[in-house]
Amino acid sequence: MKKDEYLYLDHAASTPMREVAFEVYKYTESVAFANSAGGHALSRKAKNILEESRDSIANHFGAAPKEITFTSGGTEADNWIIKMPFINNKNKNAELVTSEIEHEAVLGSAEWVESLGYKVHLTPCDKDGVIKVDDVLKNVNKNTEIISIMLGNNETGVVQPIKEISQALKELDSEYIFHSDVVQAVANRKLDFHNIGIQSAAISGHKIGGPKGVGIMFLSSEVKLPSFLHGGKQELERRAGTVNVSGVASLSAALDEQQNSMIVQNQKILNERTEFEKKLWNSLDVMVVGDTVDRLDHISNIQFSGINSETLMVALDLQGLGVSRGSACASGAQKPSHVLQAMKVSNEKINSHLRFSFGWNTNVGDGIKAADIVLSVIKGMS
Ligand SMILES: Cc1ncc(COP(=O)(O)O)c(C=O)c1O
Repeated sequence: MKKDEYLYLDHAASTPMREVAFEVYKYTESVAFANSAGGHALSRKAKNILEESRDSIANHFGAAPKEITFTSGGTEADNWIIKMPFINNKNKNAELVTSEIEHEAVLGSAEWVESLGYKVHLTPCDKDGVIKVDDVLKNVNKNTEIISIMLGNNETGVVQPIKEISQALKELDSEYIFHSDVVQAVANRKLDFHNIGIQSAAISGHKIGGPKGVGIMFLSSEVKLPSFLHGGKQELERRAGTVNVSGVASLSAALDEQQNSMIVQNQKILNERTEFEKKLWNSLDVMVVGDTVDRLDHISNIQFSGINSETLMVALDLQGLGVSRGSACASGAQKPSHVLQAMKVSNEKINSHLRFSFGWNTNVGDGIKAADIVLSVIKGMS
């Protein structure tokens, strides 16, 4: 098999970099490699590129530039926002409300908060993977510091009612941060953070055709949080360390292209996913997770009745189709998916799911091609 014949359907784990993101990275690294915190002309050049990128990124999300801080990725942004309200918190009864279906970056941070002795509420979801507004509200009280509910789930693509939750929260007489991990949703939706009603958000560069190791923390100017990394005075003294200007500029270029081409891109992705699911439905005993609810266009989580997903994934890889069993972290650890467990998928069925995820460089015909590979591999397995 030639390298370019391999069909990559694991964009929810990581996307290839867009050409424009590569070009901007190379350009910035060659003309503005200096430390953006320095005092000479080349540093000023780097600083200008950094601030232009911040302005442009903020603009895409209806945010003010000072509400955007650059991080090493989605994991860092989630960790920062969830852990910091509990550092030196004088209220020993402070609480965190999150959900059973969050990404490991949120759940791991929540475990850490719990290990300090604070109470953590894990909101359940229904059988379609949707969190109910009332189930979140039930756990919110005067001790709630932060509520963290993701917008689009990374394993199923199922979209959560974030705007409804934020509206309901406004009715309560409580002070809290409403955080949302929008890492997957950004790949597919235009988002105005203030309009949605969240005070913070986590974004990752490599899910939208930008580089790995760069992310964004949106933090509303109403909210003050302690610094996560201490040292230099970078990023409005919020995050010490030399800023990855080339990575930020590259992310910004990827985001521009992604946001400006979103309608056409989403249509293409949706067409391919529809063709793919239709062909599998017509030929096999499969179930598509979240097919009756609001779902991000790029994710298709399929249950293959009576088939072990690990065996199928390996066989598909050998035939040139790259997919995953769920979140990249979960598949590496070979643990059953906590998201499917939360959806009450039976133990017997939980190991028969695979995630296929489409992306910006998916081509017309890839949906059918992928379905054909799946059908021939399953035929060969019986
Ligand atoms: C929903 C979600 N949150 C957070 C992350 C972590 O982002 P990063 O890889 O940039 O640390 C991911 C990546 O898989 C994700 O899908």
